[in-house]
Amino acid sequence: MKRIGLLAGSLRAESYARKVARNLGLLVPNTVLAEPISIAHLPLLHDHLSRREQDACQAFKDQIQRMDAFCIVTPEINRGIPGCLKNALDIASVSYQGSLWEHKPVLIASVSTGKLGGLSASQQLKQLALVLGMQPVQPTEIYISDVRRLFADHEILTDDSVLPFLKMAIDNLIAAMPGETVATSRLTFQIGTDKIRLLQQDKQVGQATFQWSTGLLVISGVTIEPGFERQGLASQLMLKLVMIARLFGLSIVAGCPYSQAFFKQHPALGKALCLQ
Ligand SMILES: Cc1cc2nc3c(=O)[nH]c(=O)nc-3n(C[C@H](O)[C@H](O)[C@H](O)COP(=O)(O)O)c2cc1C
Repeated sequence: MKRIGLLAGSLRAESYARKVARNLGLLVPNTVLAEPISIAHLPLLHDHLSRREQDACQAFKDQIQRMDAFCIVTPEINRGIPGCLKNALDIASVSYQGSLWEHKPVLIASVSTGKLGGLSASQQLKQLALVLGMQPVQPTEIYISDVRRLFADHEILTDDSVLPFLKMAIDNLIAAMPGETVATSRLTFQIGTDKIRLLQQDKQVGQATFQWSTGLLVISGVTIEPGFERQGLASQLMLKLVMIARLFGLSIVAGCPYSQAFFKQHPALGKALCLQ
């Protein structure tokens, strides 16, 4: 399975850049894995790192090497990218094979609590991406201004003024990954704050309902419309719920018979994610 690494240029617990990166991960189809990559534990790069610091860098580099593409979301600090992001990019630019970012497609987005959407930071990041050998995909101008408003009520981004644009950007990223094509099944997910609707050519064919509270994702129902059963659609909804839990660090409570049966069938997923 191909992997997209999600990087956010912030160490803040409530980082808006990280929230946007996680939501980009939710737009990735179930056939590709979106994996959050932490940069919080990385030391500042220099020539005299301790053994522990070198190990932390190596683990990060191994993770970068496993990825087939990246989404990088940067905030803007004093009209530039944050030092923590520059440091992380620098660390994986040094290896026996050269830059580990080389030839990897990358989607670049910037966020700002102000009106300019982090434009200057984005320009810097694009220049750096080219220096490191990455392949930025279109659109290369994703500037999310007033980012606070998108997450006023919830971690899940539901704003129709940005979602279609981000979805198109993710589709381009998938298309730029060797061996991947954007699915033409016309199945789309609409992820809300308490339900996921599964649509086929704009017609709802199924839905999953959930409650999200303090670290928990409680699955309360998975239903498929008559005539659309036995096509694996309920499993697709479950995989999207699993993705929400993985990206946002939630434990799953399988609170309906279908979800309980699903995790019995997929014990590894259940063991990793479900409250036992
Ligand atoms: C020292 C400092 C400088 C900042 N400079 C800028 C700036 O140049 N442009 C901008 O749009 N926002 C600027 N901000 C606001 C941050 O981008 C904003 O706090 C953002 O939410 C931080 O990203 P995060 O939420 O992902 O942690 C600055 C914030 C700090 C603390």
